[in-house]
Amino acid sequence: MENTRELIYFDNAATSWPKPERVYTFMTEFYRATGVNPGRSGFDLAIEAGSLLDRLRLRLTRFFGGDEDAPERLCFGYNATDALNLIIAGTLAQGDHVVTTNLEHNSVIRPINHLVRDGGVEATFLPFDGAGFIDPDGIAKAIRPNTKLVIVNHGSNVIGTIQPVKEIGRICRERGVTFAIDATQTAGVVPINMKEMNIDLLAFTGHKALMGATGIGGLCVGKHVHLRQTRFGGTGVDSIEPYHLEGYPWRMEFGTPNMLGVASLWAGQDWLDEQGVRNIHAYEMKLATKLVSGLRQIEGVRLYCCESLTNHLATFTLNIDGLDAADVGTMLDVDHNIATRTGLHCAPLVHMQLGTIDIHGGVRFSLGAFNNEEQVDVAIGAVAAIARWNAGRKRKGMVQAASA
Ligand SMILES: Cc1ncc(COP(=O)(O)O)c(C=O)c1O
Repeated sequence: MENTRELIYFDNAATSWPKPERVYTFMTEFYRATGVNPGRSGFDLAIEAGSLLDRLRLRLTRFFGGDEDAPERLCFGYNATDALNLIIAGTLAQGDHVVTTNLEHNSVIRPINHLVRDGGVEATFLPFDGAGFIDPDGIAKAIRPNTKLVIVNHGSNVIGTIQPVKEIGRICRERGVTFAIDATQTAGVVPINMKEMNIDLLAFTGHKALMGATGIGGLCVGKHVHLRQTRFGGTGVDSIEPYHLEGYPWRMEFGTPNMLGVASLWAGQDWLDEQGVRNIHAYEMKLATKLVSGLRQIEGVRLYCCESLTNHLATFTLNIDGLDAADVGTMLDVDHNIATRTGLHCAPLVHMQLGTIDIHGGVRFSLGAFNNEEQVDVAIGAVAAIARWNAGRKRKGMVQAASA
C-alpha cells in the first residue's frame, strides 16, 4: 500500500485513486478480448461477456450479504445516484412519507425533494447528534402510519461517521417499513451484510472503495421487496414484448451495460478479496488517527465530529478559523501539492447543521488504501503552515487596526 507519486491525493471520497494495478490491466485485457454487447443467446463472445456480468451479480450479492439465491436482483446502472433514484421513485407514491437524515448526499435529498414538490410525498429529515450519528430512536419516533421508506447514508461523505444501520433496520423490520442504505462511501471499506443488518435495498457506486471505474454502480434489491418500475427501454431479450420486462435484472436495467465498468468491478473484487475489507479499513484508520491527532494540536484548526474515530471512515472535514474553506484548499493544492475537496460536498444539510455554509463549507480529507504515513506527516505540516500564516496575518491586522 504505497503511493510514490508526488501529488498527495486525499480525495478518495470523491473517487479512489489510483486503482489497484490489476484493475487497469484486467479492464484493458477484458475489453480488448471480450468488449462486445453481452447476450444470453448469441455468439460465443457475447455469451462470455454476459457470463462475467452474471458472475459479478452473484459475487456482489455475496459481498453485500444479499439473497444469494436471487443474484438477478443485483442490478447495474451508472452509479449510486442512478440507483438511489430508482429506489426512491420505485418505492414512494402520492400520500407516502419518507424518513431520512441531514447526512444525505444530494443524490438522496434531491430525488426526495422533487417528489415532495411535485408528487405529493412527505419527508422528514432527521438531524445527527453532536458526534455525527443518527439516533435509531429518532427514526422510530419519526415513522408514521404512511411511512413507506427509511433511507440512510451508511457512511457520511463529509464527516465520515458510520451509522448504526443494523439497529435502524431492526426498527424498520418491526414497523414494516422498507429500509434502504446509501452505501456509496462504505462499500469496499466496511463489511456489509444486508440480511444481518436488516437492509432491504442497497445502492452502491463502483468508483470509490470498490476500486472500479467511474460510470458503474447499482442496487441490490431484497427478495421480498417490491420496486415499482419507473424507467423503460431495451433489454436485449424478449424484444417482441411491448412493455419493459418485469422480471429481474431487466426490471432495473436499461440498455447496453457498461462492460468496461463490469470488468473493473470484477478485478476490484479480486483485489478486495486479497487485501480484506477489514484490513483496508484498519489501515486507513491508522493513517486517519495519525492525521487527526496531528491536526488537533494545531491552533485555529476546527475538526468536525471526530472526537472519537470509532465507527468512522478515514474521511473528515476541517476549517481554519477566519479562513474560507476554498482558500485553504487552494493553498494546500498550490503550495503543498495536496488534493483535498472543499465546499459543501453535495451534502448541504450537513453543512447547514455544522454552521459552515457562510464559510463555503469545509476542507475534506479522505484517505485511501494507497496513502501512507509520510503523506500524513506532510499534510499535518502543510495545515500547520497555513494556520501559522493565518495567525500572523490576523496579528498584523490587529496591530494595524490598533495603530490606525
Ligand atoms: C454518500 C454519497 N452518496 C451518493 C453519492 C453519489 O455517488 P455517484 O456520484 O457515484 O453517483 C456520493 C458521491 O460522492 C456520496 O458520497
